Amino acid sequence: MSQLFKPSANTAARGGMLALSIAPIVLFYAGSTLSRSPANTKQGVPLNQPVPFSHKHHVKELGIDCRFCHTGVEKSAVAGIPPVETCMTCHSQIWTNSPLLEPVRKSFETGTPIQFANGDKGWNVVNKVPEFVYFNHSIHVDRGVSCNQCHGPVQEMQMTYKGKPFAMSWCLECHRKPEAFIFADPTRKDLSPREQVFELYRKIQNDEELTHREWEVSQGMMGQRKSDEVLDEKQLEELYKLKKKQLEDCWTCHR
Ligand code: HEC
Ligand code: HEC
Ligand code: HEC
Ligand code: HEC
Ligand code: HEC
Repeated sequence: MSQLFKPSANTAARGGMLALSIAPIVLFYAGSTLSRSPANTKQGVPLNQPVPFSHKHHVKELGIDCRFCHTGVEKSAVAGIPPVETCMTCHSQIWTNSPLLEPVRKSFETGTPIQFANGDKGWNVVNKVPEFVYFNHSIHVDRGVSCNQCHGPVQEMQMTYKGKPFAMSWCLECHRKPEAFIFADPTRKDLSPREQVFELYRKIQNDEELTHREWEVSQGMMGQRKSDEVLDEKQLEELYKLKKKQLEDCWTCHR
């Protein structure tokens, strides 16, 4: 909180400013609770999709990298859902007669969004935070937070479901102590934290032996480090380039 205010601001002004800065959040929240679809908030429940796309098939068994389909995940706030053109790089040649892939072919041929049989358009959204929460993929992936720490064991999912609650307290648990949670090992010289995120899936695809912590994270656990394995603040800044002090501030996530 402290960074929000200059030391000169007096107590009364502080109280007033605090109320003002939180009021829009609370108002927004009331609105967003009403408009939020229940499907978006349920953890662990697979959503119905126009095509039964399986991450287990495509990631674990076929070995396709997340970035081939989620092209924004390293560069921007949004990971991005692939267009049907991405599917057709393979499915114009393999499984071309599969009835399950009819909506992909139809969308590709007509240039219209992928559709459910009943005419509803687009993929169902699995993960969502309310409008008043700012989130950015690229910074998390760059610092070496694993997709699975936030999304669960994606490479095992037949149909995609929401892996984590995305409650504020859940985000804050890591923001208070990122050094205990970040998946990547910053002392490794051979791979950057970002590359370590994707290396985990490669190891799984090749059936390589995982360390205990890699296994935990692959299963969607947080893999919290023991206190004697945790780096101190100076190492954190040097190795991860973290600015830890700002991570708990309200405006980091509410802007
Ligand atoms: C061959 C393309 C492809 C690959 C590779 C792929 N995905 Fe996906 N992913 C999709 C499609 C299509 C959807 C939308 C349908 C769904 O939710 O299942 C999706 C949805 C998701 C979602 C949920 C999006 C939402 O609505 O909230 C997450 C999370 C996700 N993928 C993570 C991953 C991770 C992590 C990897 C790598 C380990 C990965 N994906 C690899 C195609 C892919
Ligand atoms: C790199 C190639 C590749 C890409 C890209 C790809 N797939 Fe596939 N897909 C396959 C292969 C190979 C199979 C068959 C897997 C098996 O059964 O062993 C398959 C199987 C499927 C099946 C099951 C078909 C059936 O009849 O059982 C569906 C559905 C599917 N893919 C959807 C998609 C969607 C949607 C996308 C785009 C988001 C996509 N795929 C992208 C290679 C790919
Ligand atoms: C620190 C937690 C965190 C990490 C790490 C993370 N995600 Fe997400 N992801 C989220 C949140 C939160 C949302 C919902 C965002 C929103 O509502 O704007 C989301 C949404 C998504 C979506 C759907 C919306 C979009 O941005 O396109 C996809 C796809 C996705 N994530 C893929 C991935 C992949 C692939 C990785 C790893 C390379 C990854 N995520 C890593 C938290 C995370
Ligand atoms: C496992 C740890 C972890 C989890 C879980 C996590 N974060 Fe983060 N977050 C980080 C780290 C590490 C950074 C980068 C800090 C730095 O580099 O200074 C970060 C940075 C951010 C930033 C700053 C982005 C920027 O561009 O300045 C936002 C916003 C953020 N996180 C939102 C969220 C939200 C919202 C959630 C929950 C849905 C969440 N985070 C969950 C570890 C995490
Ligand atoms: C790391 C990101 C993060 C930080 C930092 C953060 N919030 Fe949040 N906040 C969230 C998320 C995510 C939600 C949505 C929770 C949900 O959908 O249930 C939220 C929801 C809220 C809500 C709505 C009610 C609720 O609890 O769900 C209020 C009010 C709020 N935040 C105030 C604050 C204040 C005040 C601060 C500073 C002390 C703060 N937040 C710091 C991520 C954050």
